[in-house]
This record gives sequence, C-alpha cells and structure tokens, in this order.
Amino acid sequence: MFPSILKASLLGKAQKKGLVEICLHDLRDYATDKHRQVDDVPYGGGAGMVLKTEPVVKALEDVAQERGKIRRIFFTPQGRLLTATLAREWASYDQLILLCGRYEGVDERVMDSIDEEVSIGDYILSGGELAVMIFIDVVSRFCPGVVGDARSVEEETFENGLLKAPQYTRPESFRDVGVPSVLLSGHHEHIKKWQRQQSLERTLRKRPDLLEKAELTDEERRYIRSLQLNQ
Ligand code: ADE
Repeated sequence: MFPSILKASLLGKAQKKGLVEICLHDLRDYATDKHRQVDDVPYGGGAGMVLKTEPVVKALEDVAQERGKIRRIFFTPQGRLLTATLAREWASYDQLILLCGRYEGVDERVMDSIDEEVSIGDYILSGGELAVMIFIDVVSRFCPGVVGDARSVEEETFENGLLKAPQYTRPESFRDVGVPSVLLSGHHEHIKKWQRQQSLERTLRKRPDLLEKAELTDEERRYIRSLQLNQ
C-alpha cells in the first residue's frame, strides 16, 4: 500500500532530497513459524484475530537497535487525535517508529513497548496503514525544507488556530464572478487586514469551535461579536 503514496508529490521529492527517510518493515519478517503468522485467535473468544506480541515486539526492538533512540507510536482509534499542533511537535523528533494496527486488535502486552498512541479521527479504519500515511504526510510538512516556501506552512489553515482566508488566481473574472478588489489593489496592509477578517469570518461560520482556543486581539474579539450580532 505504501510505495505509490510515499513516492508521489511533495513526499517523494522530500525523500529524494534526503530531507525525510521512510523505511518499511514487514511484521511477517519477524514471525517465527513457517507460515510467517503474525495473528492468532483472541483468548476469551470473540470475533476476528489479534496481532501477536512476539513479532511486533521483536520488530520494534530490531528497528530500535538498528536506529538508536527512537519514539514508538502506535496507530489506533484509541489514541490522541492527530492535530497540526501535535504534528509540529512530532516533526521535531529525529526518528519515529510508526506501528500499524491490524485485524481486530493487538495483544495488550505490545503496549509496554509503545511510547504513544495516535488516532487520525473518531472512526475505524480497516488498518493503521492509511492512518500512518496521513501522519507521514502531515508531519513531513513541518520538517524544514519539505515545503519549498515556508510561508505556505505558516499561512496554512490551523496554523494560527483559524481557517485560512479564501484564495483566488487568474482569471480576474469567471462567469461574471470577480475577485475581491482588495486583492488586486497591491496594498499589502489592506490585503493582510482583509485576509485576517476573512479568516475570522470563515472560522466563525464553519468551525466556531476553533475560536475558543485561537489567540485573538481585543479588536478581533469585538469584530467577531459584531459578526455574531449581524448573523
Ligand atoms: N486504525 C484504525 N482506525 C484508526 C484511526 N481512526 N486512527 C488511527 N489508527 C487507526
């Protein structure tokens, strides 16, 4: 599942430039029986299969031995929710081991070898692979040099706790719908002010929950109150 996603676009370029290195390890390589089995039936009964302790712990130990100090993250819907703030923090680590869950679950004893559990949302994926790929994409964007123009990361939605202002490109008019005139004015300060107001307005309309945590000036809070009164 991994190579096509990891080779594409920004992530592919980041690896070619040596900014990010991603190594894949197959848990089956750490199985001890001839069928290379990594799962088994659950004690106590119940549906589905459970990932076994030995191959997972052996894989974690081998990789850690090869690589040195490394933070071990397990992907599960029970983990901490992945956010931009946390992604920035994870990007500051030199190395991470990302362990995909599978089947109905993982033997609980694996958790003794895990530093942190991460979820990408309140829903169940059929495996942790997609979660890991999303994690790699999100976290890599915060690694220096991965996004060519650092402003793209800084101005992104969520960076200041708000949604991003609307964006436009050519043509100036499409089916009689134009571009806000301030963006054509060349007046940097007016543009900045307009973008900030649009950010506030959009966040209020689409994700009002974000406003509770956003860092806002008194003037911005007054602006939001005036928008709320006019709603
Ligand atoms: N594995 C299955 N569902 C998941 C989720 N929502 N987040 C992370 N890993 C998962």
